[in-house]
Amino acid sequence: MKGVILAGGNGTRLHPITLGPSKQLLPVYDKPMIYYPLSVLMLAGITEIEIITTPDEVPAFRRLLGDGSRLGISLTYAEQDKPRGLADAFLVSADHIGDDPVALVLGDNIFHGYEFGPMLQRLSRSVQGCYLFGHPVRDPERYGVGVLDEQGNLVSIEEKPARPWSNMAITGLYLYDNKVVDFARRLRPSERGELEITDLNRIYLERGEATLIPLGRGFVWLDAGTHDALMEAGNYVQVLEHRQGVRIACLEEIAWRMGYIDREACHRLGSRLAKSPYGQYVMEMAEAG
Ligand code: TTP
Repeated sequence: MKGVILAGGNGTRLHPITLGPSKQLLPVYDKPMIYYPLSVLMLAGITEIEIITTPDEVPAFRRLLGDGSRLGISLTYAEQDKPRGLADAFLVSADHIGDDPVALVLGDNIFHGYEFGPMLQRLSRSVQGCYLFGHPVRDPERYGVGVLDEQGNLVSIEEKPARPWSNMAITGLYLYDNKVVDFARRLRPSERGELEITDLNRIYLERGEATLIPLGRGFVWLDAGTHDALMEAGNYVQVLEHRQGVRIACLEEIAWRMGYIDREACHRLGSRLAKSPYGQYVMEMAEAG
């Protein structure tokens, strides 16, 4: 399975901050925002990942992450010259996806929950149609919302409904079989001029090939697209890391635990950052085994 991270967009809700840097490079407590969605794909066992961003921002992402070889993965970069919508990712990254299934994750989404990696690994081994992930929210009218019947089958998807039938928001992580590229090519821009992921998901739904997996209340899903959400996400990560003494989305640790790099390589990566608590954590963790 291939991975795609959508990290372009204008970040208008974060102005004036994002008039300078890209949203997905802003800090969420101790690491850049893009570490969080990248960690999700790495935990899913995906090692060939394309990062889509604006032409201006490609050099900054490349400076941060390089070609991924340090982490034992392959990272490529693709440009989206205008925010043409989430479903445009499959047109921009069609060559990268090739004949494989694909996982798309939004560059400002943060997921944290028990056994998430193993669950994604299981699902990604046999994607048929699409797998969407739902999470209960207080304000479903801001999201694409999924409605399940009593058997747990997805029966409808509503985009930003004025009167939502359910509080189950569809999160920014999507697994698709290879038909997605073809389906994306058939989409037409919506009234706001974007290729909508909801339209794509509805194609799968109409074919009886869309599954919504509820992530449940014990699971944390945050997006960091507003000033308050960015602050809250940082506070969440800080509290959790201080309390538990482990780090969320530590790419070096994940690369080692997933077997993409060995312990020595992990330690070396930590030592490059040795003046920061993040780097010290990587070294200590590699030393402890
Ligand atoms: P959004 O938060 O919907 O858009 P945005 O980041 O431009 O922010 P704002 O609404 O404040 O202007 O996008 C969700 C994620 O998808 C985010 O990581 C940016 C990315 N994205 C793209 O890369 N290309 C696109 O065409 C769109 C619509 C979003």
